[in-house]
Formats: sequence, C-alpha cells, structure tokens
Amino acid sequence: MIIQPRVRGFICLTSHPEGTAEHVKQQIDYVKSKGEIKDGPKKVLVIGASTGFGLASRITAAFGSQAATIGVFFEKPAAPGKPGTAGWYNSAAFEQQATEAGLYAKSINGDAFSDEVKKQAIELIKKDLGQVDLVVYSLASPRRTHPKTGVAHASVLKPIGQPFTNKTVDFHSGVISDISIQPVESEDDINNTVAVMGGEDWKFWIEELKAANVLAEGVKTVAYSYIGPELTYPIYRNGTIGKAKDDLEGTVPFLNELLKDLHGISYVSVNKALVTQSSSAIPVVPLYISLLYKVMKEKGIHEGTIEQMQRLFAERLYSGSAPALDEKGRIRVDDLEMREDVQAEVAALWEQATTENLEEISDIAGYRNDFFNLFGFNLDEVDYEAETNEVVRVPSIT
Ligand code: NAI
Ligand code: NA
Repeated sequence: MIIQPRVRGFICLTSHPEGTAEHVKQQIDYVKSKGEIKDGPKKVLVIGASTGFGLASRITAAFGSQAATIGVFFEKPAAPGKPGTAGWYNSAAFEQQATEAGLYAKSINGDAFSDEVKKQAIELIKKDLGQVDLVVYSLASPRRTHPKTGVAHASVLKPIGQPFTNKTVDFHSGVISDISIQPVESEDDINNTVAVMGGEDWKFWIEELKAANVLAEGVKTVAYSYIGPELTYPIYRNGTIGKAKDDLEGTVPFLNELLKDLHGISYVSVNKALVTQSSSAIPVVPLYISLLYKVMKEKGIHEGTIEQMQRLFAERLYSGSAPALDEKGRIRVDDLEMREDVQAEVAALWEQATTENLEEISDIAGYRNDFFNLFGFNLDEVDYEAETNEVVRVPSIT
C-alpha cells in the first residue's frame, strides 16, 4: 500500500516502514561516525526502546560498543492493509540492521508496567545473555495499571496551585494562541501522575532483575528527566509531571543502596527538550522547542535524540571516570540548552513570537520536519509514491 501522513491533533496516525527504517539507519550511521565507545555497555536492557530517547539509547549501545540489546516497548504490529506504529517499524528496522551487523537484538512487545512482562524479560535475559550490565529506563506513557493493586492510573499535564496562561502553537498550522490550563483540583491528579511517570516502576524493575540474579557486577541503570526554562515551569517542572520527575529522581538513592553489593550505580540524566511523540503533546512546549532549535542551530550547538544519547554514553556514563553530577545528583546533558546565552535569546524571542512572525523567528519548520521524521515521513531518501512493505515484522518477537 501507499502510506501518507494522516495527522490528527498532535499525533500522526500513520507510519512509513521504509521511512522509519531510513530514520533508524541515519541514527546508526551517526553513532558509527563517532567511533567506538571504549568500555561501553555490552549487554543492555532498554525499557521504552522503540522511539525517542530509548531507541536512541539502544542504537548507541549496539553500534557504539557492540552491545547485545533486549528492547521492551508497547507498540501496534503491522497487518496487511494496516500499517503498524512508528515504534513497531523502528524496532523491526533496528533488529534487522543489528542482526546484519552480527549483534544480538530481541524485543518484547507488551506492558512494561506489568509483572508478566518483567518476568518475560528476566527469562529472556537468563536464556540468552545471562546478565545485563546496563538497564535504560525510558518509558513515557499516559497511563499505568498498577501491578500490585490493579488500579488504572491516568497521568495529567496540569499546573499546581493556580491556572497557567501562556502562548502555545499549533505546530501544523503555525497559529499561536493563548492557552489557559486549570490547576489540579485535588491531590489525586498529582498522585496519579506520579504513579505513572514517577520512579516506582523503575524501582520494581531493578528489584525484580536483582532478585532474579540477572544484573551483572558493576551494573548501571539510567532514567531520563527534564527541567527546562522558567517559562514552562508552571506546566512542566512545577506541575504534575514535575512531581513525577521529582519522584523519579528521588529513586536514585534507593537504587544505589539496592545495587551496592553489586558495585552498581543508578543515574537520572536530565536531557534536552526534543521533538518526540510525548513532548508534542505538552502545551506550550512545542513553541519553546521551535524557538530553542532556532537559537541552538544558529550557535551550532543543536542536538537531536541520537546526538544526546551518544554524548550521554561517550562523555558521561562510559567516559572512563565518574560523571559530574549537579547539586541534586543528576547527570546534565541539557547543559547546552540551559546555557545562559541560549536561554536569554529564547526568552526574548518568546516575547516577540506571533503567528505572523513565527516562520521567521523560530525553527517551526525544523520542528515539523522532526515530527514527521518520527513517523518515517519527510525524508529525502524515501519515495513516498512507491508501494510499501507494510507487514514488516519484528523478527524476534514471539
Ligand atoms: P517516547 O514517547 O518517544 O518513548 C516512549 C517509549 O515508551 C516508547 O518506546 C513506548 O513504546 C514505550 N512505552 C510507553 N508505554 C509503555 C508500556 N506500558 N509498556 C512498554 N513500553 C511502553 O518518549 P521520549 O520523549 O523518548 O521519553 C522517554 C523519557 O525521556 C521520558 O521519561 C521523558 O520524560 C524523558 N524526556 C523527554 C524529553 C523530551 O523532550 N522528549 C526531554 C527530557 C526527558
Ligand atoms: Na523512548
């Protein structure tokens, strides 16, 4: 079939198999171009491995230090006449290219929050790898069914305390408008968001992996967080999602204690704001990202997900010495985003931004391009008039 983008709101309903494969290949080529990551990870479990930072982490581990990888994700398979999700095609393409390079790669498609998928992952590690030396935790989800209580928690993106009004952009039309978001009405919104995006599930994973003796001596685990500029604080860092990130970051001392006897260590890495399926759903953030891209590209310091993760692995996690941490114990690869000159220029542009001047003063075009790239569209190398092979399967999924 011929597959074109079909956009509804901030999501794209279709994905292109050959396009996503090309996008994965470009990320692999980038990691290879940076050379070997000496003493990088060798056996890696990536939870949330099919898109965004998790996929980039998997690619970096595999093609940066020849790691065997197991990926866990929640995606929709392809069927005849009905394309799968982007993450499905990404994973199929990754596995194919890893296997061709002689690298072990297998995947589990299911709910990572469940006990069952954790058991499946443990069995697969035992059978094929014995133990893993790195666990990447990169889930982004709007809901979680708690494995012990059965309660279905839904996360919300809301300010806490007072309503938040600011500019936002519809990145498809380029129309800027004011948006007002009402604050949480009760603690429930906060608790549910923490239950979904906080640290409990990361903790459950590491506890169960350790109890099953599938964590290697010296194991590392890393999860991802975000801080961002003051102008998004009410909706991000000081909002419900920020409470979840506080909780995630607060899990590090617990995990370090748990991993002590293995001489293992856990980290949270604060990453840069980037276009992913998750971030495009947050009000205000797409406008900030399109201004940020403009400023960072002009200064020659722009990075995408793969550049971020390659730098995290090569210069932080596996640099040969312990990574520098901030006052809260976090790794910072948002250092370039948060540079004073960058933030000052973005803040000035923010004041000026209107529907009329948006194309000129921002990189909204780059935002859109990155968004379509996530689904395998807008790539020069791909012929979108050609028949696709939509029934691509991830070879290793049982
Ligand atoms: P993403 O939406 O691209 O990736 C989410 C991944 O989680 C996918 O692989 C998806 O299949 C998987 N997933 C979701 N629910 C699942 C479930 N129930 N079971 C198994 N897999 C499931 O998101 P992105 O942006 O890469 O986010 C990853 C982490 O990075 C999040 O913690 C996010 O907060 C953080 N982050 C994101 C930033 C951004 O600007 N995008 C900036 C800094 C941190
Ligand atoms: Na991810």
